[in-house]
Amino acid sequence: MSDGGYEHLFDEIGYSRKIFKEEAVLFPDYVPSYLPHRDSQMRDLVNFFRVSLESPGKVSQKVLCSGRVGVGKTAVTKLFSSIFTKEASGRFGLKFRSISIDCRKERTLYSVLQAIISSLDPYQPYKGFSARDIHRMVLEHLENDNSYLLLVLDEVDYLIDASGSDAVYELTRDERGSGRINFIFISRSPALMGRLDESTKSTLLHNQVVFPPYSAAELRDILMQRVPQAFQRGAVDDEVVTQAASLGASSGGDARLALELLWRAGKRAEAEGRSSVAPEDVRVVFGDIEGVPNEEELLSLPTQSAITLLAVARALISSGKERIATGEAEKEYLAVCEEYGVEPRAHTAFWEGIQSLKGLGFFSTEVKVERKGRTTMIGMNYSAIGLQKVLEGLLKRGAERDEQPPAA
Ligand SMILES: Nc1ncnc2c1ncn2[C@@H]1O[C@H](COP(=O)(O)OP(=O)(O)OP(=O)(O)O)[C@@H](O)[C@H]1O
Ligand SMILES: [Mg+2]
Repeated sequence: MSDGGYEHLFDEIGYSRKIFKEEAVLFPDYVPSYLPHRDSQMRDLVNFFRVSLESPGKVSQKVLCSGRVGVGKTAVTKLFSSIFTKEASGRFGLKFRSISIDCRKERTLYSVLQAIISSLDPYQPYKGFSARDIHRMVLEHLENDNSYLLLVLDEVDYLIDASGSDAVYELTRDERGSGRINFIFISRSPALMGRLDESTKSTLLHNQVVFPPYSAAELRDILMQRVPQAFQRGAVDDEVVTQAASLGASSGGDARLALELLWRAGKRAEAEGRSSVAPEDVRVVFGDIEGVPNEEELLSLPTQSAITLLAVARALISSGKERIATGEAEKEYLAVCEEYGVEPRAHTAFWEGIQSLKGLGFFSTEVKVERKGRTTMIGMNYSAIGLQKVLEGLLKRGAERDEQPPAA
């Protein structure tokens, strides 16, 4: 017998992966070297901070990056910081450091300053000093070293929530006028401005980089960029990428969500031993993240809506596709009506039923223009198999109730 006997547990690592090549490429902290659809934000940052390179020490620049969840604020800032510090030393001969503080973790002026000094000077214990002392030491350290700092305060709202706007005011105060520290503030909240001191506010009003939500087409490009590196060839097709992108777009233009959907869908396919990701994987994992409608919610739907929903679920399952044409849904709808003994509605009423289910968040639709004319394609935001099961149970029980002889 060999020594350990557990080596075989490693046999499969790196060999039999049918879905992923390198799944870490899909993780939230991975930053690709190019960020599609963020050129203008990157250019804005370069323009705002060129003064820090051309006239170092003359001003302490401050810029605000704002936008909703998952729109690339942290990724763009990380990439900018690394390019900026490299250019500073290469092209301008300046020592520029960048430090990023996650204010969700460091919520007081003191802990922010501690994080800065221990990053600048890791071997020196700075315990027992006041915040003001540490601030002075940070500035002295930069002066002695003739270096500059790009300080990123990510999710700065948390710092203000916990410590008030004074914390930002103190941090940005440059009593010695040395202009050694430059700031990027990152925030999701449109209300941030109103919470800052007058001086910081008046600077930031002119120095804003806005990150709009991504459209479905933009998210598609973002996902496509990572697919060849993250997945085995053929494991993820265009349809699945489009589906994850459109769910990300309808959830606020969130790239983090779109990437997570693709990753989780891949994990699901892998766990089931398949070699490719299916549209149903994406629907299921979207439901896992966003929550699925429970029985009670489904029970409150009128019978016609439940039947329409079941018809779309079945048509999607049997097609194996991400979306089906309205005509296919209607054909299935007529079959389901017959199965449950329900009078089918006319085409227009059926169509209105689809629209109202879309309004309730069950479907997403897309108009496809073909030679024959325009077709509306219907996709589902939840597991079609899961919904089918619950709806069949509900409709069956409803039908049995209807068949009961009325109580005497
Ligand atoms: N333009 C882009 N190109 C490629 N990947 C992107 C792009 N924008 C965002 N991402 C990726 O999407 C994820 C979320 O982006 P990021 O963390 O930058 O969002 P955020 O705006 O900081 O969101 P939050 O406010 O929730 O912190 C990250 O994995 C990031 O790499
Ligand atoms: Mg962020």
